[in-house]
Amino acid sequence: MATNSLFLLPGDGIGTEIMAEVVKIIDWSNAEGLTDFSTDSGLAGGCAYDAHGEAISEDDMAKALKADAVIFGAVGGPKWDNVPYDKRPEAALLRLRKDLGLFANLRPAICYPALADASALKRELVEGLDILIVRELTGGVYFGEPKEIIDLGDGQKRGIDTQLYDTYEIDRIARVAFDLALTRGKKLHSADKKNVMKSGVLWDEVVRGVAKDYADVSFNHILADNCAMQLVRNPKQFDVIVTDNLFGDILSDVAAMLTGSLGMLPSAALGAPDPVTGKRKAMYEPVHGSAPDIAGQGIANPIAMIASYAMALRYSFGMTELADRVEGAIAGVLADGLRSADIAQENRKTVGTQEMGAAILAKLKA
Ligand code: IPM
Ligand code: MG
Repeated sequence: MATNSLFLLPGDGIGTEIMAEVVKIIDWSNAEGLTDFSTDSGLAGGCAYDAHGEAISEDDMAKALKADAVIFGAVGGPKWDNVPYDKRPEAALLRLRKDLGLFANLRPAICYPALADASALKRELVEGLDILIVRELTGGVYFGEPKEIIDLGDGQKRGIDTQLYDTYEIDRIARVAFDLALTRGKKLHSADKKNVMKSGVLWDEVVRGVAKDYADVSFNHILADNCAMQLVRNPKQFDVIVTDNLFGDILSDVAAMLTGSLGMLPSAALGAPDPVTGKRKAMYEPVHGSAPDIAGQGIANPIAMIASYAMALRYSFGMTELADRVEGAIAGVLADGLRSADIAQENRKTVGTQEMGAAILAKLKA
């Protein structure tokens, strides 16, 4: 019997194409005896809506809850623009995050040397970039109630979202971020809008309290808007950035582009360790979306998806060596000059999804 279980949710659009490349890597590492994964797959997003009338079925939710790790592709597309709000493709993602308690979202942005020229910023600004955004993922305005549109009459409506954070939510995400900072550059920025938001005032108060337990980490407060500006002005000043759900969503897209393409950025969403087994629920997904504009053409970049699988090896299974190997294989094919369309460069070979996946697999086998 396999020792570890993976539940694959490829989703919509390019999700299925890039997941196929991960499956080839899993098959290889299982065959080599490097891993012992059992895999099962389900439907999430628009494809689940088409099949069951829900963004994710109860059956697939149960499987996600049971698995050692969920590997998620991407969801959404114009086809489902008009489905009821609570059944829209993104609802699957949000429910998985919430029901699995995946409060800690790790979004590393690493600029591979070979891609320093693919960034919209000058090479010297991004070369060697290695930052980690730690985004709170189960609270804030994404989930706060009330969340509704009310009719005020006279043709007026009011849209309401609620930003709220409790002490424990800020405390636990801050500790994850400080712990990670200790393993890296020992520098942490906490981004909020305490100049206009009460939730930001509390955020800062709690993070500062946690900082006292981490004397070895240099702590810096930064306003979220300034953080966005500094990320494009001088990104290498950052090591770990901890921030809330909404600011983390935005800042991680900014950080992603520093690396050349959104197609490069993996992520891990982690729950709290189980008090008895120490195991945490986890889901791994690329930061990019389902890219309906290029879906089905075989040109999507599978790197963020494959790098997300590497994060699963590292964070869910402690397989550091194999994770390093997968990441090394990605760096290797880029150094060899292979590029997908999103990171295409002059004098480099542009390849499709399968060719990129095959090249990464070939490097792993070498
Ligand atoms: C992300 C995405 C999601 C988010 C969407 C698809 C709901 O943008 O993971 O960054 O806003 O969290
Ligand atoms: Mg986003």
